[in-house]
Amino acid sequence: MVGRPGIPASRARLAVTATLLVAAAAALTIGVYAKVHRPALRPLFLIGFSGMLQLKAWLATIALLLVVVQVATALWMWGRLPGAGPAPGWLPPLHRWSGSVAFVVTVPVALHCVWSLGLVTTTPRVLAHGIFGCGFYGAYAAKMLGLRLRGLPGWALPAPGGTVFALFISIWATSALWFFTRSGVPLL
Ligand code: HEM
Repeated sequence: MVGRPGIPASRARLAVTATLLVAAAAALTIGVYAKVHRPALRPLFLIGFSGMLQLKAWLATIALLLVVVQVATALWMWGRLPGAGPAPGWLPPLHRWSGSVAFVVTVPVALHCVWSLGLVTTTPRVLAHGIFGCGFYGAYAAKMLGLRLRGLPGWALPAPGGTVFALFISIWATSALWFFTRSGVPLL
């Protein structure tokens, strides 16, 4: 493994291992709790929505839009957004804030999923959704740690960032998309 210039390879290995361990611990902790606790089967709050499903589907969709802003701003900052010029000064704060708000918006959704329903294994869609959800918080923890650890190789930021994005799209596709394409359920 090649570290950044001036950073010994052993340090880069240690930083990558620490990041992967933290990611696995975060994902496993959520997954084990979701599996072993007794699901409450009720919402904690509905903030004006008619049910838990509606609350979660809309909040997840708001988070999805913010996640798209995240990816577009990240690509622009890394000079990979086709047709875009040099990154303006407001781009890094927009990236940081859209990411922070997206994360905060996912918390009440995942809280309802994990606390109220748990890790459900009855259908492949719902099982995949739960696994993606646990993985998402693991990848997010890795990304946040990667921003602060010195000595990580250059790929160690875009890799968890891309994983967070891919997992969120998968979470949304296995939950909110399913909700919006079902008929006979109130939308709000
Ligand atoms: C960022 C994290 C997450 C988001 C944005 C999210 C989003 C959603 C949404 C919008 C729904 C409603 C649609 C539906 O009922 O299918 C849902 C349902 C559900 N979620 Fe999550 N979720 C997340 C994490 C999790 C996790 C970590 C678990 C469990 C380990 C989980 C388990 C479930 C279950 C069991 C359902 C019900 C599925 C069904 O019976 O149809 N979710 N989730």
